[in-house]
Amino acid sequence: MIICRSADELERMREAGRLVGEVLAELAGLVAPGVTTADLDAVAEKRIARAGATPAFKGYHGYPATICASINDEVIHGIPSGRRLLNDGDIISIDVGASLNGYFGDSAITLPVGQVSEEAATLLRVTEEALYKAIDRVRPGSRISDLGHAVQKHVEAYGFSVVREFVGHGIGQRMHEEPQVPNYGDPGRGPRLTEGMVLAIEPMVNAGKPAVKVLGDGWTAVTRDSSLSAHFEHTVAVTADGPWILTSREVPVAARR
Ligand code: MF3
Ligand code: CO
Repeated sequence: MIICRSADELERMREAGRLVGEVLAELAGLVAPGVTTADLDAVAEKRIARAGATPAFKGYHGYPATICASINDEVIHGIPSGRRLLNDGDIISIDVGASLNGYFGDSAITLPVGQVSEEAATLLRVTEEALYKAIDRVRPGSRISDLGHAVQKHVEAYGFSVVREFVGHGIGQRMHEEPQVPNYGDPGRGPRLTEGMVLAIEPMVNAGKPAVKVLGDGWTAVTRDSSLSAHFEHTVAVTADGPWILTSREVPVAARR
């Protein structure tokens, strides 16, 4: 069952989403060579606690941390570690989820560390653009697969590929609700979007081939061909006026860097 949220519930989801956006903006300002992914995790955990909220990922199926920090060929679900230092030229995906007053927000960004290759910079740009292509389709009457189709078309035009094994999701009083939101496929399929639906849209894009595998830690997903991978995610509500990006950041990350 796909749950539709009242205007009042959407306001509460915006509060959760706003916090997630603020955490990401703060972490984006800290990303630099020599910083560890555990440093970033500690900042996120403190900020979420200070807001009276709860990290959404910690304890979820045993996941051990507040954020996911996935570097270079890591696609998603990288576990923060004090031994993992950011290096100049890396790209890092940071995924943050939190619940506040019973509602969840979920968002991710991928950032360059120092100076990155032209390929990496293009991958980041195209993946974020693909997210916004999907968000552009969020309106009553669209079909779920219209979103993934928009992502796939944009990504493949650059010779990049869309990850198939992980998908976006409905979100609300649980982090993962129906429906699934794939980042690929033909348009015009799947449930119709209606007012009050809330979706976590999260394209994962590889510079090389689409295949991924999960490492022995049981979490970290990496590209099979070791190519770079990027991930951008927003929690977005369907409204009569169009998409409402609940995790939008007051200060755009790009402007802070
Ligand atoms: N944004 C991811 C998702 O929607 C993060 C989940 S990490 C986990 O699935 F550890 F909580 F699984
Ligand atoms: Co998500």
